[in-house]
Amino acid sequence: MSFLWNAWYCAGLSHDLGQEPLAVKILEQPLVLYRTDDGTPSCLHDRCAHRFAPLSMGKVCGDNIQCPYHGLQFGSDGICKRNPWGNHHIPINAKVRRFPVIERDMLLWVWMGDPERACAEDVLDLAAHFNLPHHPVVYGSYSLPVYYELVTDNLLDLSHGIYLHAGSLTNGEESSGELQVDVQVEGNVVAALHRRLNEAPSPHFKKSWTRSERIDHHSDMYWHAPCNLVHDVGVTAPGRPAEEGIYLHVVHLLTPVSMSETKYHWIASRNFDIEDESVSKALQGAINHAFTQEDEPMIAAVQERMGTTDLMSLRPVLLVGDAAGMRARRLLDRLRREETVPPAVADSHVQGYSIDHIQQTM
Ligand code: FES
Ligand SMILES: [Fe+2]
Repeated sequence: MSFLWNAWYCAGLSHDLGQEPLAVKILEQPLVLYRTDDGTPSCLHDRCAHRFAPLSMGKVCGDNIQCPYHGLQFGSDGICKRNPWGNHHIPINAKVRRFPVIERDMLLWVWMGDPERACAEDVLDLAAHFNLPHHPVVYGSYSLPVYYELVTDNLLDLSHGIYLHAGSLTNGEESSGELQVDVQVEGNVVAALHRRLNEAPSPHFKKSWTRSERIDHHSDMYWHAPCNLVHDVGVTAPGRPAEEGIYLHVVHLLTPVSMSETKYHWIASRNFDIEDESVSKALQGAINHAFTQEDEPMIAAVQERMGTTDLMSLRPVLLVGDAAGMRARRLLDRLRREETVPPAVADSHVQGYSIDHIQQTM
């Protein structure tokens, strides 16, 4: 059980960050996000360099964030810009670690590893999956008391649908049509492509699909290392391309808070009934119900049974539905082994710093 440091993690939706500082925790690092005067998001280690107060309890002053304890102000580069005390001299170590942050397509992303390696092109491109702003979106966020890879396992093996989501997302019946499953790996992406051909539509699509009695159903889940997933799911007339049918695109953004907690943000868009607000409400309610009432209790129960033991050391039985999840785990293991960046530590930690040093510089 470990983290990949050199990666972008979703820190929340844009609207989560207003005028007030926002405290988040990613990879066990307390972070504070705030907006500078022109609205640009900034992300710093949420621990003042003086007596380590959470900056997130402070307030935004122009482009700076002011510590709530003794008033030091830090800029978006993490360097102290104002010392209200003494001769206003700014000590050389009065700085906190800065984390690269990007705001794009209604999401905030933070890079947790070596800042030199942060590349904006590596951020998950939501616009490539969503027809923004023409297709309506619904969204939600949850905090889960589980290790993040258990959530990845859940999303990459949708065979649980007919049991865990019987009566909610599925009709609880094994496919009456022909099932095809294909798992592909390309770069740092694992795709689990499911096709059920020539069957009756599931209750989920039945209301909105009136063009044929039988349908081809596709459900394609793309896992992007380390833990963001895009799900394309929809129906079309038998033998016709997916683009001619109706479909949902859902992104699942998993952000490890700690080894035992995961923040989960999801956003869904659709290409059908786009003017119908009641369909948006029903979709949001269905996803919300399925996850909070069905997936989350199950994943939490699994975590409780597993404790902190690594999955593979428990020698789990592997079924056909595990193929994509196993490939994702192997790929992530390799990426974690390959990276050399040490765990993030505050820049304010100075080796050899002592009380003598303090007396000389005051
Ligand atoms: S703890 Fe921040 S200024 Fe003292
Ligand atoms: Fe599920």
